[in-house]
Amino acid sequence: MKLVMVGTGYVGLVSGVCLADFGHEVIGVDVDADKVALLEAGKIPIYEPGLDTLVRRNASAGRLSFSTNLAPALKGADAVFIAVGTPSRRGDGHADLQYVYAAANSVAEAIEESGKDYTVIVTKSTVPVGTGDEIETLLAKRLDRARFDVVSNPEFLREGAAIEDFKRPDRVVVGTKSDRARAVMEAVYRPLNINKTPIVFVERRTSELIKYAANAFLATKITFINEMADLCEAVGANVQDVARGIGLDKRIGGKFLHAGPGYGGSCFPKDTLALTRTANDSNVDLSIVNAVVSANTSRKERMADKVINACGGSVDGLTIGVLGLAFKPNTDDMRDAPSLTIVPRLQKAGASIRAYDPEAMEEAAKHLDDVEFVVSPSDAARGADALVIMTEWDEFRGIDLVDLHTIMNGKVLVDLRNVYSASRAEKVGLTYVGVGC
Ligand SMILES: NC(=O)c1ccc[n+]([C@@H]2O[C@H](COP(=O)([O-])OP(=O)(O)OC[C@H]3O[C@@H](n4cnc5c(N)ncnc54)[C@H](O)[C@@H]3O)[C@@H](O)[C@H]2O)c1
Repeated sequence: MKLVMVGTGYVGLVSGVCLADFGHEVIGVDVDADKVALLEAGKIPIYEPGLDTLVRRNASAGRLSFSTNLAPALKGADAVFIAVGTPSRRGDGHADLQYVYAAANSVAEAIEESGKDYTVIVTKSTVPVGTGDEIETLLAKRLDRARFDVVSNPEFLREGAAIEDFKRPDRVVVGTKSDRARAVMEAVYRPLNINKTPIVFVERRTSELIKYAANAFLATKITFINEMADLCEAVGANVQDVARGIGLDKRIGGKFLHAGPGYGGSCFPKDTLALTRTANDSNVDLSIVNAVVSANTSRKERMADKVINACGGSVDGLTIGVLGLAFKPNTDDMRDAPSLTIVPRLQKAGASIRAYDPEAMEEAAKHLDDVEFVVSPSDAARGADALVIMTEWDEFRGIDLVDLHTIMNGKVLVDLRNVYSASRAEKVGLTYVGVGC
């Protein structure tokens, strides 16, 4: 099949390259000419494990190319996917759909120009219920209704494991009532038949809601265990054991039960907020999701106090080493990372920050002021009064705690991801503060 991916960010690039790896011919189209030039030169603008090899392999096989020009790309295409960003709209927390509608307008224009008889327009971006209807109305202003269908096909991949998630998903969700569009989507995902991946066909509005419901549920699970961590600290219990004790129950499941500094990233914060706004507009009170949003926001703020308390009540004049800045390991994505709340709060309390992240420092430097970025974990720890583990990169699991004790000035280790245990750290003379233990 010939497919077009509008937007070559985290989702568009991974989805496009994986679809090419399935054997389809894919053109990634982006308005960002610098990004397209990088991709054409075989360079990958983001960090995602395995992505560079897969891009090169499919580009050299002639199945994957990039362009800034939608109209020629669309010629002969069976489907065009919209995978542009839907960030929080400034001020009200609704999903900002300006990029989606701009992309849909360009698609309409390109279809009109090309004279194509039929194209499936697939919304892969996470969009609020009813957006597909809006896109349909927008396209119908230019095109005869028989010339297109608008389908919802939300994406569930996780950054850091995105290729595996796309190629071996738990399910694919497709929202459409059109048999013709359904046949096209079945053909797009036919290579997944080999893994017996369930393709869940539903109505378009339901499909749009499934994506938000999934993210809100996962965010709730994380927030729940974070609250249990607070209780564990207050009553002298251990949250990792609680998580294991409940997670082995198949009705609960062990995933997303790792206590930490609060969820961040490019999806959960904006999607939970947007879901509450959709519900408000329909006069439905999503009290659980509302509580999750506010509990997570205040948690990130309280994590700075946790560090300050671990340092004896003040960090004024102290140097704090920070390991990890990205919102999770194996990505350079800094969107809504807890570090963006915690680091400025520590600086405001008088601390100097020296930070290391294996992949996210360039991105972090765009958002954090006055941070000294260093090139190794030991450089972050050397001479520091306290060390904070903010992201659980594998690289930090192998740090020799005896060395750490030797090179640090103070002896406080604040482990916001429970990478180490109190017994291990205390054995070498470090003062250990974890989460929920
Ligand atoms: N990042 C994730 O892990 C993830 C996972 C699942 C779903 N999603 C959803 O996927 C969507 C995309 O997210 P992302 O993280 O890939 O965003 P991103 O910001 O990384 O990428 C968006 C890309 O779209 C391009 N773009 C914007 N307007 C355009 C236009 N009119 N024509 C062509 N290109 C245009 C931008 O230049 C950019 O390269 C969002 O709705 C997001 O919620 C993201």
